[in-house]
Amino acid sequence: MAKYRIALMPGDGIGNDVMDAAQIVLDKIGLDADYIHADIGWDFWCAEGDPLPQRTLDLMKETDCSLFGAITSKGKDVADKELAPELQGKGYSYRSPIVRMRQLLDLYICLRPCKAYPGNALNYKDGIDLVVFRENTEGMYVGVEYAQVPEAFYAVAGMEKLPRDAAISFRAITPGGSERIVRAAFDYARQHNRKKVTAVHKANVLRQTDAVFMEAARKVAAEFPDIDFDNANIDAMGMWLLKNPFNYDVIVTTNLFGDIISDLCAQMVGGLGFGCSGNIGKDYAVFEPTHGSAPKYAGQNKVNPIATILAAKMMLDWLGEGEKATQVEGAVAAVIAEGKVRTYDMGGDSGTLEMARAIAAKL
Ligand code: IPM
Ligand code: MG
Repeated sequence: MAKYRIALMPGDGIGNDVMDAAQIVLDKIGLDADYIHADIGWDFWCAEGDPLPQRTLDLMKETDCSLFGAITSKGKDVADKELAPELQGKGYSYRSPIVRMRQLLDLYICLRPCKAYPGNALNYKDGIDLVVFRENTEGMYVGVEYAQVPEAFYAVAGMEKLPRDAAISFRAITPGGSERIVRAAFDYARQHNRKKVTAVHKANVLRQTDAVFMEAARKVAAEFPDIDFDNANIDAMGMWLLKNPFNYDVIVTTNLFGDIISDLCAQMVGGLGFGCSGNIGKDYAVFEPTHGSAPKYAGQNKVNPIATILAAKMMLDWLGEGEKATQVEGAVAAVIAEGKVRTYDMGGDSGTLEMARAIAAKL
C-alpha cells in the first residue's frame, strides 16, 4: 500500500490540462502515493444537478488530501439553463463546489503565497515575497442571501431603512473564526521567520463585523511579541501594496477581502499562472491553482501549469515531504530563471506539457 492516498480533481476547462502537467512532476519526484480520480465540476452539474457529488465527498473522507484543478462557475441565470432538461424546475441550485468544500470540510485557512521568482519578466518588482492568509469559511461567503428583503426583517431596528426591492447578503464574522485564521498567520510567521503580520479590514464602515475581526487579531497579536503587527483598510491596502510591496510580509484578512487581495498579490508575481493556494483545515487540505477554468483555452496545451505545480509543492509541504517540496520549487525557479521554456502568458510559445516536462527534467 502506498504511503498516501490523494484525490485528483481536475474539474473542467483547463483544470484537465494543468492536472496532467502536475502529474508529470509528481511522478518524477516519486511521491509514494495512490492518486484517485474524483468527479467534480460543471459537467456533473449539468448531468446530475450537483457539481460536487456525494461520492466525491465520500472519497475525500478516505484520502489524505486533494489536488484540485479548476471549475467553471456561472451566475444563476446561465447555470439554471444548462442543467439537463429532465432536472430543470426541480429545485436544483448551483453553488460553487470549491466554496462548498471549504465549508463542509472546515478548510478554514486559505493560504496563498506570492513569490516573485528571479528572472520572471512578469514580476511587478523583483524580490516580492508575500503570503496571504484568507479566512475561508465565513464572511460574505456564508451564502445567506435574499433576492428581496423578507417581510419579517422589517420588524428589526434599522431594517426599515432598506428599500422594499433590495437584494441583501449577510456577512458573518465570528470571534472564533477570526481568532483561528489570525493565529494560523502568526504561527506561520513564526515558523517561517517572517517579520510582520498585517490584518486587513474595513472596520471604519463594517463597524460590527470588522470590530470582531480586529479584536480577535489584536488579542492573538499580543501573544506574538516577536512579530510586528499592523493593520490596514482594504482599500488603502490595495494602494499601498502597489506603492511599496516590500512593506508587507504576511497578510491576514476575511474571506472576500482575501479573495480580492490575493488576486492582486498574484498579479504582482506574474499573474494567475503563478498563483497557488492551499485550503487547509485541521486534518484535511485541498490544494489548487488560484486561477479559474478558462474554458476558451481548454484542451489546447497552452496555459501555464506553474500555479498547479506550485500547489502540488504546497501539498508536499503539508504532507511533511518538505525535501521534495523544496526540490519542486527549486525546479520551477530554475526553469523560470533560464527563461528558455515559457508559456504564452510569459511571452513564449511553449505548451503546458512542455513546461511540466522542463520542470520535471530539473528533478
Ligand atoms: C478563489 C475563487 C473562488 C472564490 C471562486 C471560484 C468561487 O475566486 O478561489 O479565489 O471566490 O473563492
Ligand atoms: Mg478568487
